Amino acid sequence: MDINTFGVIGAGQMGNGIAQVAAAAGLSVIMSDIKQEFCDNGMATITKNLDRMVKKEKIKDADKTAILGRITTTTDLNDMAKVDFLVEAAVEREDLKFNIFKDLDRICPEHVILSTNTSSIPIGRIAAQTSRPDKVIGMHFMNPVPVMKLVEVIRSIATSDETFDITWKLSEKFGKTPAEASDYPGFIANRILLPMINEAVFCLYQGVGKAEDIDTVMRLGMNHPMGPLALADLIGLDTCLAIMETLYDGFKDSKYRPCPLLRKYVEVGWLGRKTGKGFYDYQ
Ligand code: CAA
Repeated sequence: MDINTFGVIGAGQMGNGIAQVAAAAGLSVIMSDIKQEFCDNGMATITKNLDRMVKKEKIKDADKTAILGRITTTTDLNDMAKVDFLVEAAVEREDLKFNIFKDLDRICPEHVILSTNTSSIPIGRIAAQTSRPDKVIGMHFMNPVPVMKLVEVIRSIATSDETFDITWKLSEKFGKTPAEASDYPGFIANRILLPMINEAVFCLYQGVGKAEDIDTVMRLGMNHPMGPLALADLIGLDTCLAIMETLYDGFKDSKYRPCPLLRKYVEVGWLGRKTGKGFYDYQ
């Protein structure tokens, strides 16, 4: 199956990164969001990333122009009728994703694979919103997408082998290394990462250490590129909480109980880098 035109739903931090790597791999990309302003912000981030790569002589100015030239934006989901494969990277809310998949199922030709970048919503539940559950799969990129090498490819029990193979090969075409996961809460990446982050928030909550000290221990003691609290700010504390809730609901095991402090931060709108405040200040 030839994939020439690639659709991305959502122009936020994950969506614009995915659009960038797809365009850099030579595909035509249509990136959609609900407001033109969100699309413009997404394009501005891609342009900034490519400018930095030109400055570091990783790509030429002509490459930057070509990559940007391959990306168009839209606020009309009906434009997804033109794509050969798409990845949904909208906000991590189940009702929203369900509606998007119902719409995409109506809009996209029936052979088109509808993948999702969900960090924790069961792929099978999303697939059940469509008439093509065999063509629904998880294609989970890591943040920041242009830098991180992994794509977690998640198959539900209804995903076909053909859909899996196409998604796997596409991840490789994007210069990423895919890893296969089954459709259980949090899959592999977030099943392991988020309890660690949640435990770091418990350490802060219980006064075991200050944020800087907790992060220093994990950076210098365990060689993590960034500490768990700084990473939570990068991911978004609302997303972290949503993933913990999914683990807690899915396994009904108290070891996944979200830390009350994490919930408090989300309640007041301290969501990390994107709001200028999380466990650290970014203004
Ligand atoms: N977009 C594009 N490129 C970026 C970037 C961004 N947002 N942030 C950094 N980079 C690039 C830099 O330009 C730099 O490129 P070069 O090597 O070509 O010079 C490179 O990444 C390293 O950046 P820095 O030198 O500025 O900083 P660093 O060495 O501290 O690296 C980092 C930054 C890559 C973010 C690193 O700290 C890291 O790997 N952190 C952990 C990230 C992580 O764990 N991500 C997974 C999150 S979990 C997830 O995404 C799943 C989920 O569902 C929640």
